[in-house]
Amino acid sequence: MAKILLLGSGELGKEFVIAAQRLGQTVIAVDSYENAPAMSVAHESEIINMLDGDALDALVAKHQPDYIVPEIEAIRTERFYEYEKQGYTVIPSARAANFTMNRKAIRDLASKELGLKTPKYAYATSAESLRKSVSEIGMPCVVKPLMSSSGKGQSTIKTEADIEKAWSYSQDGSRGDVAEVIVEAFVDFNYEITLLTVTQRNGKTLFCPPIGHRQERGDYQESWQPTAMLEEHLKTARQMADKVTSSLTGAGIWGVEFFIADDGVYFSELSPRPHDTGMVTLANTQNFNEFELHLRAIIGLPIPEITLERIGASAVILASETGANPSYEGLEFLAEATKTDFRIFGKPSTRPFRRMGVVVTYDVLDGDISEVTKKAKELAGKVKIKS
Ligand SMILES: Nc1ncnc2c1ncn2[C@@H]1O[C@H](COP(=O)(O)OP(=O)(O)O)[C@@H](O)[C@H]1O
Ligand SMILES: [Mg+2]
Repeated sequence: MAKILLLGSGELGKEFVIAAQRLGQTVIAVDSYENAPAMSVAHESEIINMLDGDALDALVAKHQPDYIVPEIEAIRTERFYEYEKQGYTVIPSARAANFTMNRKAIRDLASKELGLKTPKYAYATSAESLRKSVSEIGMPCVVKPLMSSSGKGQSTIKTEADIEKAWSYSQDGSRGDVAEVIVEAFVDFNYEITLLTVTQRNGKTLFCPPIGHRQERGDYQESWQPTAMLEEHLKTARQMADKVTSSLTGAGIWGVEFFIADDGVYFSELSPRPHDTGMVTLANTQNFNEFELHLRAIIGLPIPEITLERIGASAVILASETGANPSYEGLEFLAEATKTDFRIFGKPSTRPFRRMGVVVTYDVLDGDISEVTKKAKELAGKVKIKS
């Protein structure tokens, strides 16, 4: 059985470990703090600062895993190239992890090398150069630190007066030592999707039915599957997802994000791992959920097809204040609702808007997706977290 070193132990990691456990694999869950969600279900856990390359090297040498599986971006991913040279398998690949952790690398690859349609963009390294880039791109535009996730440091510039504060906000929200930002034209999209894409070592690339989602403060609030879209747009999105994942190389699941606007499909970004909006697959919308697909692709089990079994939605359960040892009120409302399930991640502490759990709802294939989504959202709002 394979030994998996899971770098990052959040809620997505926890479901991944459960999928791995069910197929008898061994997982060592790693994070920077004790009692992270995935640690409670893994065989072993380790606490290190994953941005510390030497600590990471020591961990890999100690465990000699068959697979190194990153679950987050904030890792000293440059070291992954060295691990591959030493014969380790990084999921999906060192190249994928490195390109996707820096918005510049992945955007230049997608737009310039692969020719994918993306929002118009430029870069800036100071408030001064941001002013220049904004005049080049036009307003409104979106500013994002090159290294950040969950909307951290991200803001929209609508008028000249926003430029200065967009710069300082980006500097507060940036992870790592890079001060540079990307400036993107604001795409007035009709809707956005995640196209979960599975690449296999010895099999064809598969696509999950498209997932719709709604974002607030840089984090997703509800997601639903499938989301209705023009066949032609879906085809374009699949072609783009295929192009970018084959260029990045490796096996696993990817969350490829697109904006669908009047003038077509824009590639936005991608995660080389399960995607948070893909938690909707925990409603058993598919023959395999996104974590099971990731695991199977990683250990090289063939995946012949991905089928939609029913429609579903997910809605996040958020904390409202800072505290420790949270308790949950109102879970009985979720339990007494039909065609409903939920997960509580087991995070040891809370802070405002921290994601603590998720509600999933579902219905038969010809059910009403907007009703299913509305129900998930309403139920999630009934849970009160005390800490
Ligand atoms: N250029 C843009 N135009 C319109 N909305 C955007 C743009 N860039 C980001 N957004 C919105 O912000 C969300 C988060 O941005 P994203 O680039 O995916 O950052 P993150 O890495 O934090 O997920 C997107 O899902 C989308 O809703
Ligand atoms: Mg995103």
